[in-house]
Amino acid sequence: MSQSNKDSRYLILQTPSKEEYKITVHEGDVAILAKDLAQIKLKTSTNQEEKQITSFDPGFMNTACCESTITYIDGDKGILRYRGYPIEQLAEKSNFLEVAYLLIYGELPTATQLETWQERIMSHTYIHVTLMDYMKSFRYDAHPMSMFIATMAAMSTEYPESNPTLTRRDLFEFDHRARNQQIFRILGKAPTIAACAYRHRIGRPYNYPTESSRGYSYTENFLYMLDRLSEPDYRPSPAIAKALDVLFIVHADHELNCSTAAMRHLTSTRVDPYTAVAGAAGALYGPLHGGASEAVVRMLEEIGSVDKIDEFLSGVKSKTRRLMGFGHRIYKNYDPRAKILKEYAEKVFAEVGRDPLIDIAVELERRATQDDYFVSRKLYPNVDFYSGIIYRACGFPLDMYPLLFALPRIAGWLAHWYESLREEKSAAKASIPGATHVMRARQTYVGDLNKELPSQEERKDISNQNKSLAALKTYHSNLSKRRRAPGTAQRV
Ligand code: CMC
Repeated sequence: MSQSNKDSRYLILQTPSKEEYKITVHEGDVAILAKDLAQIKLKTSTNQEEKQITSFDPGFMNTACCESTITYIDGDKGILRYRGYPIEQLAEKSNFLEVAYLLIYGELPTATQLETWQERIMSHTYIHVTLMDYMKSFRYDAHPMSMFIATMAAMSTEYPESNPTLTRRDLFEFDHRARNQQIFRILGKAPTIAACAYRHRIGRPYNYPTESSRGYSYTENFLYMLDRLSEPDYRPSPAIAKALDVLFIVHADHELNCSTAAMRHLTSTRVDPYTAVAGAAGALYGPLHGGASEAVVRMLEEIGSVDKIDEFLSGVKSKTRRLMGFGHRIYKNYDPRAKILKEYAEKVFAEVGRDPLIDIAVELERRATQDDYFVSRKLYPNVDFYSGIIYRACGFPLDMYPLLFALPRIAGWLAHWYESLREEKSAAKASIPGATHVMRARQTYVGDLNKELPSQEERKDISNQNKSLAALKTYHSNLSKRRRAPGTAQRV
C-alpha cells in the first residue's frame, strides 16, 4: 500500500502477524532504502528465530546502489544521454576527448579547457620502458585483453606516490591535482598499452606514440601506434579515425553495467585507480559483457547468406539458437547506439569497401523486427549488432573487439571513480546510509547449521558422495602425452 502526506510519500508494509511498518519513499525518485527494511523482523521458517528482513536481488534486477548524474537511460523509449546531452548529438558534433571531459567533470569544456585537457592527455601517452619490457614477456599468442588488464594493474607499481594504500586513505578525496593526474595518465596511456598488446599479438615491434607537435587526435594516435610500419609520413585514414571516434563516444558510458559497477565496488575500498580500472576491465572481458560483438560476427559468418536467415530464425524461436546483438536488460526498444552505428557502418564501407556481412545483418534485422516472437518480447538490435561489423571491415582481428570496447569505457569508469570520490567528500550524501562505505553485499545463508565435526576416520568416504570432490582423485599430470606411461591417469 502506498500513501503520502505533504512532506513525504511512504509505503505501509504489513507482516503476517499484522504489524505495520512505514517505509519512506525518497523524494524525486521511487526508491526505498533497503536499510529501512531492517526495522521489520520476521521469524525464520527453519528455527522460528526472529531476524530482520533484507532485500534479496542476486542479479541486481531491481537494486540501485548509488545516486549518479552521469548517464541517463530510458530503456522503454530508447533514450541515452550523457550529462543530459542526447547521444545522437554527441556522436555527430563532439569528439571522444570532449565527451570524456563531459562525463568526468559534468560540464562541456570551454575552448581553452578543451585545449588544455587534450594537451594534458596527449602528453601522457608514453609508458615506462619497464612496462613495455613486461609486455614483451607475454607469450606470443597472449590475448590482447589479458595483456591489457595485467599491464594496467602493473601501472600501479610505477606510481607508489599515487597509491592510497602506500600514502593516505583519502589521497584523492580532497586533492584535485592528484585526481586529475591519474585521469590524464590512465586516459593517455591506455591506448598505448592496447596498441602494444595488438602489436605483440601480430609479432610487430611496438610503436611509440606520436609527438604532440604532429597534432594527432586521440584515435589517430591510437591508429598510428597500431599500424605504422616504416612509413615516415604515415597518417591514418580520417574516415576511419572519425568512425573509431564515434564508436568510442557511444561506448564511453552506460551507467551501472557490470564493469562500471565493478569499478565503483573496487573504488569503495579506496584501492588505487590503476588496479580498479584493471578490475573493471576484467569484468568487461567476460563473454556476456564485452564479448557480444565478436559473437555477432561469428553468427553472421555462420549464417553465411541471406537465404539462410529464415532457417536461423526458426532455430532462435525454438530456443536452440540465440540472436546475438539483439535484446537488452534495460532497452525494450531500439538501442540508440545501434542506430548511430548502422549509419556509420555505411560511411566506413565507403572508405574500406563493403563488408558482405552487412547485407545479412540488415535483412536479419528487418525480418526479426517484423516477427511477433521478437516484437512481443521487445527484442531490438543493441550496440553490438553493428559494432562488430565495423571492426571487421576496419580489419581488426576478433580478439581486439573487447579491447576496443574497454578503451572508451575507461572514460565512464573514471567518471564513476570521480563521482564516488566526491560522494565521499559530500556531507549531504552522508545522510544516505552506506553512500560512503565500502561496498559489501549481504547473502542469504541456506546451508547447514550446527554440524558436528567428524573424525578423519569417520570422514573416509565423504568425498565419494560429492562428484566434484571425487574428481580430485584424478590428478593433473605434468607428463606430456608422449612421455606418459601407458595406463596412467589422463590429464584433467
Ligand atoms: N535472442 C533470442 N531470444 C532472446 C534474446 C535473443 N538475443 N534475448 C532475449 N530473448 C528472449 C528470451 O529467451 C526470453 O524469452 P522467454 O520469455 O520466451 O523465455 C525473453 O526474450 C526475455 O529474455 P531475458 O533473457 O529474460 O532477457 P535479459 O534481460 O535477462 O537478457 C540479454 C538480456 C542482453 C542478456 C539477452 O537479450 C541476450 O542474451 N542477448 C544476446 C547477447 C547480446 O547481444 N548481448 C549484448 C548486450 S548489449 C551490451 C551492452 O549494453 O553493454
